[in-house]
Order: sequence, then C-alpha cells, then structure tokens
Amino acid sequence: MTNIPEHFQINSQGHLEVSGCDTVELAKKFGTPLYVLDETRIRQNCRDYVAGLAEAYPETQVCYAGKAFLCRAICCLVEQEGLGLDVVSGGELFTALKAGFPPEKIYFHGNNKSREELALALENGVGYLVVDGLYELELLRELLGGTGKRQRVLLRLAPGVEAHTHVYIQTGQEDSKFGLAINGGQALRAVKTVLESPYLELAGFHAHIGSQIFDLTSYEVAAGILGRFMVEVRRETGFIAKVLNLGGGLGIRYTREDKPLPVREAAKRTGQMVREVFAALDYPWPKLVLEPGRSIVGDAGVTLYTIGNIKTIPGIRRYVMVDGGMADNPRVALYQAVYEAVVANKAGRPAGEVVTVAGKACESGDILIRDIPLAAPEPGDILAVFATGAYTYSMASNYNRLPRPAVVLAANGQGELIVARETYEQIVANDLLPPRFCGKGVREAVEG
Ligand code: LLP
Repeated sequence: MTNIPEHFQINSQGHLEVSGCDTVELAKKFGTPLYVLDETRIRQNCRDYVAGLAEAYPETQVCYAGKAFLCRAICCLVEQEGLGLDVVSGGELFTALKAGFPPEKIYFHGNNKSREELALALENGVGYLVVDGLYELELLRELLGGTGKRQRVLLRLAPGVEAHTHVYIQTGQEDSKFGLAINGGQALRAVKTVLESPYLELAGFHAHIGSQIFDLTSYEVAAGILGRFMVEVRRETGFIAKVLNLGGGLGIRYTREDKPLPVREAAKRTGQMVREVFAALDYPWPKLVLEPGRSIVGDAGVTLYTIGNIKTIPGIRRYVMVDGGMADNPRVALYQAVYEAVVANKAGRPAGEVVTVAGKACESGDILIRDIPLAAPEPGDILAVFATGAYTYSMASNYNRLPRPAVVLAANGQGELIVARETYEQIVANDLLPPRFCGKGVREAVEG
C-alpha cells in the first residue's frame, strides 16, 4: 500500500516525481533540506477556488493568505491567477509591494498593527484595511484625520463560532484575541465610529473562524451570525455592507485519515450557503471574499531531507534522522501535526519498516513523524514529507543556527529556485561585535 498523494507520480526509476521533476534529482541539484512546491497544483487550487465560488455566488474574490507561504514569486503567481492577497504584517506587505502586487487587491489584517505598518499601508494605497480593535481606529484617526485622504476598511468581527479544529488555530470563538465582539455591542460601536469618520469608508465585514476545517457548516453558522449582525447594523444606521470576507480555513489532506472536500466543491458549497443565508435574511448579496492559505499551497508542497544517522533501540524504536526538522517545520512540535512520507529514491517499494523520523535539532521534541512505515531507510536516502507547502517555510526558524532551506517551484519537469538557501554568512550578518570583546573575531573587526 502506498501513501503517495494522487498528484505525485513514481517514475521508471522508482523515484518520487512532482510535476514531472524527479525529487531525487532536485535534492541532488539544490541540496537538502529542500521545500518543493508543485506549481501546477498551486495554480489548480487557485482556479478551483475561483471557479467553484463563481459558480455559486454573484460577486466573488479569492485572496491568497500569504501567511501560509510568502515570497515574491508566489505573489506574482497568485496575481496571475486573479487572486487578491491577505497580508498580516509590514513584512508581508513589503514583500507583496516588492513583487509589484497591485495594492488595491491587498487586504491588510492584524490584531495589533503598528503605527508604522499602518502608515506603510496607507502610503501604498492598500485596498482594504481589516480593522481589528478600537485602538487601530485611534491610530487611523491620528494618521488620516485632516489629511483629506480616505481609506477603505472592513471590520473584523468575532462571531463566537468554535470551528472544529486544534484549539491553537481556532480563531472565531468569543474568547479570542481577534476581532470585535458582536455580543456585548463592541462591534456595533465600532461600526458607528467608522461611519462617523470622514477619513474612513466602511466596505463591510470580516471573520475568520479557524484553520484546517473540514466541516463547512462552521462557515454557514458564521455567515448567519454575521448576516444577522449586518441586518441589525442596517436597522440601526442604514449602512449596507458591500463586502463580506469569510477568511480562510479549509482543511487539507495531511494523512490518509483526512478527507477534505475537493477545493472546487468546497468553494461552491460555501458560496451556496452564503447565498442562501443572505437570501433568507432579505439582505443584498455582498461581494463574497475568501482567503485560503493552506488549501492553496499546502498539498502542493513536499519537503526533501537526506537521511543520516539511524539509531536502533532493540525492542523499542528505530530513529531515522534527517538533516532538518523542527526548524523547517515546527508544526509537529506546535500542533502535534501528523505527516506522511516516503523514501523518495525507493518510492516504488513497499513500506515495511515502522520507524520514527527525528530532526537534527538539539531537542528531544524534534520528532517529525512518529511510527511511520518506510521502505528500508538507509543513510543517504532522500525522505520526502508530504503536504508541507503551508506554514512551514513561513514559520521556519534558525534554531541551532540552522540556515533556512531553499524553496523550489516544480513545473513540467523543471525545478526553479524561488527562495535561495540561507548561508552561514547570512546567519551571522546581523551579529555585531563591539571592539571590547576579545578573540579573533574582534581582531578581524578592528583591523577591518
Ligand atoms: N485569513 C485570516 C484572517 C487568517 O487569520 C488566516 C489564518 C487565513 C485567512 C488563512 O487560513 P488557512 O486557509 O491557511 O487555514 N500556523 C497554523 C495556522 C494559523 C492560521 C492563522 N490564520 C498552522 O500551521 O496550522
């Protein structure tokens, strides 16, 4: 039995292939650890979202949530597919601007945007600021009041919906740091403040209920709560929202236990549900925005590692150690995430031996996969871990001063670097060595 996801192939040499690229060759050419993203799959996911949603709903916009994985090439790719972009920090915004992403298609999120981040967004004509809290409204008054400029905003709401997912990635529940609470009147007060501010234009509302969600009824419930709030706002103020942004969150297949709906189907059903909710409320359909991150890039990614040390503890466990781990994929340590993998150069062989894949970080918790059957792993083999396109590179660290791996985009038999591997020189680039410290490094620094 093979656990290879359907969009990967095994070539005549028995090697794992991604979009026509032999992963063993990619590992040889670019080194390991290496993140490989299947460009064909990313584009397909984008198209499925756009088409599925458009089939079911009058006016739609799909935005890619850059926090899942952002670099300039990805900005350009999703832009080519007609997507907007969700950014959540000055760094993400800067990346998008550097890539030439159209600012009017950017939604700027964040529960504690700084004055500098807001200024960067305002200077560059970001399409929508998603205001998350009263303090942000205060900062916007300081930045925009009296300038004669006007900024379009959405208000982020906390709908009080608990999506069925890991507690660290639930976001819509009432006890959350995100969003203006509908219950208790905070959200309504924020609406009134924005409507009274000549420098702000209220376009509508946003909510994001969580991540890795399989049960779409959570979206229906959230849309219902937001819809009823919008009806209340109309009654109180006369304001009719033009935009409803329901965030991201659709789950992907990490293991064979995960059975997500195909993206196109999920997008279509979400569109249908929202359409029905607003029809029942007799409220004009707002433009529906979705912001998927994981379900655009997650299943398109595979991380390649080289197997090194193997430690067998008789009768207990066999540790197969790879040249990366929690520094390039902290999701296992953070969320108890479960991954599947194959030995890429033995992908055609049966996976018989149950082993534990451990990373190289100086930490017992640096385990990538517990108890996975692999095909006779040996030092020098290439291990391919699936579904690592989202929240891996973007959450990677330099723990143990490990350089961050490179990222390659694979399409039609060609692998192209889109993020270079970090170097040791880059690792020390920000270190400063004041002259009072002794040692060789000082002498070099002093002598220039
Ligand atoms: N929109 C907003 C406002 C969000 O906060 C998020 C994710 C998304 C969209 C995209 O959600 P997605 O479609 O990717 O589920 N680091 C965690 C996930 C954190 C998600 C945070 N917000 C993980 O590795 O599972």
